[in-house]
Amino acid sequence: MSSLLTVAMPKGRIFQEAVELLRQAGYPLPPEFEDSRKLIIEIEEAGMRFILAKPMDVPTYVEHGVADVGIAGKDVMLEEERDVYEVLDLKISDCYLAVAGLPEQKEHSVAPKIATKYPNVAAHYFREQGEQVEIIKLNGSIELAPLIGLADRIVDIVSTGRTLKENGLVELEKIREITSRIIVNPASYRMKAGVIDELVKRLSKVVESKEEIK
Ligand code: PRP
Repeated sequence: MSSLLTVAMPKGRIFQEAVELLRQAGYPLPPEFEDSRKLIIEIEEAGMRFILAKPMDVPTYVEHGVADVGIAGKDVMLEEERDVYEVLDLKISDCYLAVAGLPEQKEHSVAPKIATKYPNVAAHYFREQGEQVEIIKLNGSIELAPLIGLADRIVDIVSTGRTLKENGLVELEKIREITSRIIVNPASYRMKAGVIDELVKRLSKVVESKEEIK
């Protein structure tokens, strides 16, 4: 096993905030870290090896133990239900999951169609609401679905609300708030407890100090 701690980082919108947080926690990530196209980046001085993954895949790498630790959105954790420990709420990348649709709903079908990147979360939500729906899984640009007639409503992440607004959609129900989390492989937590505890301790301090400023 590598002596470096392997950290699965989500490419995309969480990435920059996560990098900043690690720097604030005292891990020396060089400026070129963000610009690289490499998918595996070793930073000996930080004692870390980073793997850059699609956000939805981060829990998979951690569950299989090829990454000791990962940074994953709560949305991804809810959707994937992986066997990993969720040890810290980083309180970054705040957003929420919501149901949205066109302002004037024209739903005639018995089971309205719901387009989403989160089929498990959506199915669970509508089951709890006692509503029968048909889930259509998409991989992105979810807002397109009601506009083009593929679905009646969507379940998706809302951050600034700009995508909904610019596409003439409205939020119908809020499902839950989402932030990013530190997740850990259970075996790694036993074998690398020292470095993982140190990472969590340092990050917790940064998160707490930011909360105090708020
Ligand atoms: C996410 C999400 C929305 C959008 C919300 O998509 O699925 O489409 O961001 O952000 P906003 O409220 O600030 O407009 P993302 O940009 O990750 O790309 P995707 O459509 O490929 O999933």
